[in-house]
Amino acid sequence: MLRNIGNVVCFIIVLMTSHHVTGQAYDVTQLNRMLTILKNSVYHDIVDIRLEIMDLKMTVEQIGVGQRNASDESIIGQGMTDINPREISDLKNKLSAHESRLNKLFSTVNQIQMENSVLKSKVNQVVVEKENKANAEILRLNAGIETKFDDKFNALQKKFEETTAVIMKSYKDLKRQMLDQTNTFSQSVISEQNKLSTKIDKADAKIVRLDGEVNKLEVNALVEKRERNELIKNLKAELLQLNAGVETKCDDRVITLQKRFEETTAVNMAGYKDLETHLKTTIDCGDPIPDHGTVNTTVTKYGTVVKISCNHGYVLSGENIIKCNADSVWSKSATCNPYDCGDPTPDHGTVNTTVTTYGTVVKISCINGYVLSGENIIKCNADSGWSASATCNLYDSAGRQFIFGIPETAFNSPDYIKLYIASKHVSKVYITAPGIGFNQTITTLANTSTAVVLPNSLETTTGLSNKAVYVEADQTISIYVMVRDFSSSDGFLLLPISADAREFVVASYEPYRDAYPSEFLIIALEDSTLIDIQLRTSAGPVIIGGKSYSSGQNVSLKISRMQTYLVQHEHDLTGTHITSSKPVSVVSGTRCAFVPHDASGCDFLVEQMLPVSFWQREYVCAKLKSRGTNRLRILSSVDGTSVNIGANHIKLNKGEFYEYVNSNDVATPIESNFPVLVLQYAEGGGHDSKLGDPSMITIPSLNGQGAEYFYETATTLAYHYVSITIRTDQANGLNIDGSTVSRSDELKTTINTTEVQR
Ligand SMILES: *[C@@H]1O[C@H](CO)[C@@H](O)[C@H](O)[C@H]1NC(C)=O
Ligand SMILES: *[C@@H]1O[C@H](CO)[C@@H](O)[C@H](O)[C@H]1NC(C)=O
Ligand SMILES: *[C@@H]1O[C@H](CO)[C@@H](O)[C@H](O)[C@H]1NC(C)=O
Ligand SMILES: *[C@@H]1O[C@H](CO)[C@@H](O)[C@H](O)[C@H]1NC(C)=O
Ligand SMILES: *[C@@H]1O[C@H](CO)[C@@H](O)[C@H](O)[C@H]1NC(C)=O
Ligand SMILES: *[C@@H]1O[C@H](CO)[C@@H](O)[C@H](O)[C@H]1NC(C)=O
Ligand SMILES: *[C@@H]1O[C@H](CO)[C@@H](O)[C@H](O)[C@H]1NC(C)=O
Repeated sequence: MLRNIGNVVCFIIVLMTSHHVTGQAYDVTQLNRMLTILKNSVYHDIVDIRLEIMDLKMTVEQIGVGQRNASDESIIGQGMTDINPREISDLKNKLSAHESRLNKLFSTVNQIQMENSVLKSKVNQVVVEKENKANAEILRLNAGIETKFDDKFNALQKKFEETTAVIMKSYKDLKRQMLDQTNTFSQSVISEQNKLSTKIDKADAKIVRLDGEVNKLEVNALVEKRERNELIKNLKAELLQLNAGVETKCDDRVITLQKRFEETTAVNMAGYKDLETHLKTTIDCGDPIPDHGTVNTTVTKYGTVVKISCNHGYVLSGENIIKCNADSVWSKSATCNPYDCGDPTPDHGTVNTTVTTYGTVVKISCINGYVLSGENIIKCNADSGWSASATCNLYDSAGRQFIFGIPETAFNSPDYIKLYIASKHVSKVYITAPGIGFNQTITTLANTSTAVVLPNSLETTTGLSNKAVYVEADQTISIYVMVRDFSSSDGFLLLPISADAREFVVASYEPYRDAYPSEFLIIALEDSTLIDIQLRTSAGPVIIGGKSYSSGQNVSLKISRMQTYLVQHEHDLTGTHITSSKPVSVVSGTRCAFVPHDASGCDFLVEQMLPVSFWQREYVCAKLKSRGTNRLRILSSVDGTSVNIGANHIKLNKGEFYEYVNSNDVATPIESNFPVLVLQYAEGGGHDSKLGDPSMITIPSLNGQGAEYFYETATTLAYHYVSITIRTDQANGLNIDGSTVSRSDELKTTINTTEVQR
C-alpha cells in the first residue's frame, strides 16, 4: 500500500518538472519575440525620426528657393521672414535629449544583460545546492527567472513605448511648429534668403552631424540587438541546460525518492509493527465466552482469533471464529443455545412442559383411553434427541408384564385357578408368585392358548398378604385368568402393567349372603405404594384393618412390592374410588352374588378393573346370547357425568353408578360427557329362567376394539357362547380361525350419534 502511494507521488514530481521545462522553453521563445518586436519598434521609430528630420530639411531648402506649392501654387515658405534660430537650437537640444534617452535605454539593456548573467550564476549556484533543496530551489528559480524576465521585458517594453511616444510627440510638435512657422513667415523673409541660407547650411551641417549621430545610434541599436539576441540565445541555451539538469536531477530525485520511499516504508513497517505490538498490549476486547460456551484461548487482546465452542448440549448460533478488532470489539458474536429436541408429544398424548431443550425432563401422559408404550419420563439429550420415545396406543389387553392376585373365591375345587396364555408368537413366559414360592417358565406355541395351573394357595383373604403373581413374557401375550369353581366360575382378562394405572373405581355386586362378600384386591408393583380409598357401599360400615368405616370415608394404606390387600364387605362396594402413588392392579367382584339380588343362583364375580385413565365415552353392548335381559352398570369417576344409555339420560357424580336393565334391548349404545366404565352382568337362572348364572364382564369401548382377538372358554361347561360386536359395514370381514362366520343369528342395532358412527 505504502509502496504504491510512493510511486504515484514520484510520478507526479516528474510530470511537474517536465511541465516547467516546457514552460521555460515557451517563455524564451516569447521573450525573443518580444525583444524582436521591441527592436523593430525602436528601429522603426529611429527610421521615422530620420525621415521626419529629412522631411524637415527639405522643407527648409524649399523655403530658401521660393518653390511653389504644387497643390495651390503658393510659394513655399512665402512670408517666412526669419528662421527661428531658437527653434533650431531647440530641435538640436531635443535631438540630443533623445540621443541621451536612447543611450539610457541601451544602458538599461546592458543592465538587463548583466543582471541576467548574475541570475545565471545564481541559477548555477542554485543547481549545485544540496540535494534535499534542489527541487524546491529549481522550482523557485524557474519562477524567479520567469518573473524577472517578465518584469524586465515588461519594463523594457514600457520604456520603449514611452520613449517612442515622447519622440513621436516631439517630432509631430516640431513639424507642426515648423509648418506653422512656414505658413506664417512673410515674404520679407526672402530678403533674408542668403543669410538664412547660411544659417540653413549651418543647420544642415548640424543636421548631417545629427544624422550621423542618429546613424551611430542605429548602429549601436543593431549591435545591441545582436548582443541581445546572443544573450537571449545564451539564456535559452542555459535554460535548456538547466532543464536538462533539472531532468537529470529529477531522475536522480526519482531514484533517491524511490530509495527514500523504500526506507520510509521500512520505517513505516517497523512503526506498524510497533503499533501492532502497542495495540496488542493495550486493546482488549473482553471476555467473548458466551453462556454455556468455551473458547480455545484466554487471550482477549487485539488481533486474537478465538474459536468459540458450545458446551455439550448447546448449539452455536452466530460465528464460531471471531477476532478482536482495534476498536476493542469482537468481529462477531455468538450465543450457545440449548439443543432443542423438538416436541416429544405423541399422538393422543400430553406432556407436562412445553420446554423441549437440552436437559429438560418431560413426563409424557396419554389421553384417556390410550396407553403409553415406551418410557413416560424422557430427557432431552445433548445432541441425540430424546432419551426414549413413547407412543400412546389405544388400550390393549395384550402386553408383556402383568401383576395380579386372586380375591377370595366362592368354593374351592382342585386346579381351579388357571391361566390361559395366548400369543401370535412363540413366547417364553415367566410366572412367579414369590409369596408362595411359585416360579414357572413356560414356552407358548404361536396362535394357540397354553393353560398354566396356579396353586390354590394364591387365593387371598381379607387384609394384607404376599400373594401377588407377576408374569413377564418375551413376546406380547394375552392372559385370561379362569377361576373354575364347581358350579361357580368366573374369570377375567388380565391387563398389562401400565404407568397410568393409579386410579380405579370398584365394580362389584350385592353379595347373596354376608359370608360371600363384595370385595376388591389391590396388588402392588412397587415398594411403598400409598393407597387412598374412598369407600362407597350400599349399606353398613366397612371393616378395614379392624377399623370400621362408613360409605364416603377415606382409608389410606401402604403396601409393598408383590403384596396384596383385600377389602371385603357384606354389601356392595361398587363405586369405591381408589388412587395410588405408584401403579397397582385392582381385581374386584363378589365372592358369590345373586344377579339381580333377589334371584338365585349365587356365583363368583370377578374382573380386573380397567384404570380410570383408560375409560372411554362411547360403548356398544350387545345382550348376552341365550339370556333374557341386557343388564349393565355404568360407573363414573367424576361429578357431573352425563350418560345417554339407550333412551335413558342419566347424571352421575363421582363413585355413583347406574344399573340399566332392558329385556327388549339387543345392543345398547352408551355415550357420556366424561369417560365411564361399563360392565355387563349375566343374571342368575332363577331370574330369567335361562341357562347360566351370574358373571361380570368389562365392556370394551367402541374405539378400544381391536381387529384380532384370542378367546378361550372353560372346559367341562355345557354351553359356550362368544359375543362379538362389530360394525354392520365391517361384518363381512369377520373370520373365526380363518373362516367366515354364518351371521343368521346376529342382533342388530342402530346407533344414532355421529360420534359413535365414526
Ligand atoms: C501646398 O499647399 C497645400 C494646400 O494649401 C498645403 O496643404 C501644403 O502644405 C503646401 N505645401 C507646402 C510645402 O507649403
Ligand atoms: C483458536 O482457534 C482459531 C481458529 O481456529 C485459531 O486461529 C487460533 O490460532 C486458535 N488459538 C489457539 C490459542 O489455539
Ligand atoms: C415434568 O415431569 C418430570 C418427571 O416427573 C419432572 O422432572 C419435571 O420437573 C416436570 N416438569 C414440569 C415443568 O413440571
Ligand atoms: C399366527 O396368526 C397370524 C394371523 O393372525 C399369522 O399371521 C401368523 O403367521 C400366525 N403365526 C404362526 C406361527 O402360525
Ligand atoms: C423364583 O425366581 C426368583 C428370581 O428369579 C428367585 O429369586 C427365587 O429363588 C425363585 N424361587 C423359586 C421357588 O424357585
Ligand atoms: C376423601 O378423599 C377425597 C379425595 O382425596 C376427598 O375429596 C374427600 O373429601 C375425602 N373424604 C373425606 C370424608 O375426608
Ligand atoms: C337421530 O338423530 C336425529 C338428530 O338428533 C334425529 O332427528 C333422528 O330422529 C334420530 N333418529 C333415530 C332413529 O333416532
